[in-house]
Amino acid sequence: MTEASENDFKVWMTETARHFEWYADSTLPKPGREPRRLIGAMRYAVLGGGKRVRALLAYAAGAVSGASPEALDRAALALELVHAYSLVHDDMPSMDNDTLRRGKPTVHVQYGEATAMLAGDALQTEAFTVLAAVEPPAAAGVRGMCGGQALDLAMVGGHPGEAELLRMQAMKTGALIQAAVLCGAQAGDWDRLGDGARGGLAAYADALGVAFQVVDDILDCTQDTATLGKTAGKDEKDDKPTWVSLLGLEGARTRARELHDRANAALALVSADPAVPEGAVDRLAQIADYVIARSH
Ligand code: IPE
Ligand code: IPE
Ligand code: MG
Ligand code: MG
Ligand code: MG
Repeated sequence: MTEASENDFKVWMTETARHFEWYADSTLPKPGREPRRLIGAMRYAVLGGGKRVRALLAYAAGAVSGASPEALDRAALALELVHAYSLVHDDMPSMDNDTLRRGKPTVHVQYGEATAMLAGDALQTEAFTVLAAVEPPAAAGVRGMCGGQALDLAMVGGHPGEAELLRMQAMKTGALIQAAVLCGAQAGDWDRLGDGARGGLAAYADALGVAFQVVDDILDCTQDTATLGKTAGKDEKDDKPTWVSLLGLEGARTRARELHDRANAALALVSADPAVPEGAVDRLAQIADYVIARSH
């Protein structure tokens, strides 16, 4: 990216995230209402933190198909609610047992385990209510994220091969990334897009989903806790199979670069479709750059 386009991207990202924050704050149940503790925990889990990559993807993908701002707000919020619920459960003692998330105590530390479990469940239900018309394809259930999380826990201490690791991560992280792109694009005039553009969006999301987790695994063992906002070195400590344990640090970095190239090649297919407006894939390309280069 040139300096000017990087600045333009940063401004777009900051403004889009701020708009999203306002929409999420005003759409979630108001604080102080009953059940007060549960609503407090839900708002704590969603608001005031996170990179909002899934929301940004939905907004950016909407440009490909001319989606309305309202439909994109709903899609973006539903995705971040599912994501927040996955993190609340992921951090609980029965899963990864983490105490820090987004620079704050995790939800179960702050509110207790029972409330954390319920808050996660409630966020998931809330997501589908918000979504109403736009449905993410099998992203959250046993064929997607929940199934991937179950595989992740089952693999602790094990030595899965590449195909097994890929499948687990494509489910636990990739499925929701895939949904983010498709929700945004399907909120618009999806029927006008040709097979090349549709396949290109799916291939972009596929590569980005895996890349996202490759980078997450790299950051876990290369960054400190303050930068990450979550406890560093947790994967090795917990004996989790990751891209770093499978390929080594340099191997994982090479893999991230390959996936980045694959995501860009897929976007070239999207922009080649005459139904896709000029420049409509630029934000998606910039999000891929950002996901690869991020430090937390
Ligand atoms: C962390 O996701 C969990 C994974 C799926 C790897 P993010 O790195 O997107 O977390 P936030 O939303 O920015 O906190
Ligand atoms: C989490 O993966 C994936 C989901 C929450 C579905 P990780 O366990 O690696 O995420 P972090 O590192 O705790 O954010
Ligand atoms: Mg985990
Ligand atoms: Mg975790
Ligand atoms: Mg991780």
